[in-house]
Amino acid sequence: MKVKKILEKAYYENNLTKDEIKLLLIAEGEDKDLLFKTADRVRKEHIGDEVFLRGLIEFSSYCKNDCFYCGLRRSNLSAQRYRMQEDEIVEVAKRAYQMGYRTVVLQSGEDMYYTKDRLCSIIKKIKRVVDVAITLSIGERSYDEYKAFKDAGADRFLMRFETSNEKLYRKYHPGMSFENRIECLKWLKKLGYELGTGFLIGLPGQTLDDLAQDIILVKELDADMIGIGPFIPHPQTPLKDAKEGSVDLTLKSIAILRLLIPDANIPATTALGTLDPLGRQKGLMCGANIVMPNVNSLEYKLKYELYPGKICINEDATKCRGCIESIIVSLGRKVGQGKGQSRHYKRVSVS
Ligand code: SAM
Ligand code: SF4
Ligand code: FES
Repeated sequence: MKVKKILEKAYYENNLTKDEIKLLLIAEGEDKDLLFKTADRVRKEHIGDEVFLRGLIEFSSYCKNDCFYCGLRRSNLSAQRYRMQEDEIVEVAKRAYQMGYRTVVLQSGEDMYYTKDRLCSIIKKIKRVVDVAITLSIGERSYDEYKAFKDAGADRFLMRFETSNEKLYRKYHPGMSFENRIECLKWLKKLGYELGTGFLIGLPGQTLDDLAQDIILVKELDADMIGIGPFIPHPQTPLKDAKEGSVDLTLKSIAILRLLIPDANIPATTALGTLDPLGRQKGLMCGANIVMPNVNSLEYKLKYELYPGKICINEDATKCRGCIESIIVSLGRKVGQGKGQSRHYKRVSVS
């Protein structure tokens, strides 16, 4: 009964207290079903049945940071490093366009080889050659750099804050600062990017209270896109023996955030599909409306190893494109046409 009341409040007010969020995070049985059903209904009412695809181009596996959980961390000496050159990146973007993608996500470790000028040139070239929205996911830079990328044509930016617990943040991100991360996210918003952020589920030491606070922080940052994924231990990192994140808590977090920001774009992430063979389908049925298949060649896919066991690692990009479409259709949904701009962004930027 209590959960039903909380869901009614979330549905009408798009707001919840931390305690209410915690109750939803521990919901089981009928209560959990009702949470997922309500989130699915809200997704349908605000977004419809279209699932938008993003072509993910992981263009560099070099990283200057040392995040405890990530296989690309600089201290992982057995990581395989590569950098794609400008023409190669533009070629892959072209191929993605030919496969029907209307958004490409340029993602990498924090790799300063890609200077402001280099990245601007890549963005401009892609925009000249194909009509796609460009999302950057390249980590922390200066305000000036973010501005230059926006002026060059970048549309969106994804950067998770990973955890809102500052103590945990400090522990798992040596040499980095939570304050700076949040400042970067605020700059990106101010510069007019469609802003994506989110967090990891299941970092060792993370409590239910932390998770509820993570959800509140996404709402406070007024994200247009929300990326949430379970932590998956990588054998070459300090967290190699830690337990993986919970699929159940990931799905519940997706559902709660759909209720709090009804018109945001929310992906069913690859990490979710890696821990559960039906993870992406489950995500799409409890609030998610985006999938981000990798469009790189097999050689690069294998080398960009954030965590082991990633799905689609041996599949060719054309095969994934077909596979993901059949998944979407099997759920009674359809592949979105066009760039799939976040409705939240559209609504907020015109009001
Ligand atoms: N370097 C950029 C950054 O950190 O924002 C972008 C690339 S980074 C690889 C993208 C995301 O991968 C991170 O935000 C992090 O949440 C996720 N990630 C890294 N290691 C992971 C792991 N072991 N399990 C699950 N997700 C992971
Ligand atoms: Fe680098 Fe991003 Fe991995 Fe951290 S999560 S080590 S910043 S690639
Ligand atoms: Fe890659 Fe199914 S989406 S194999």
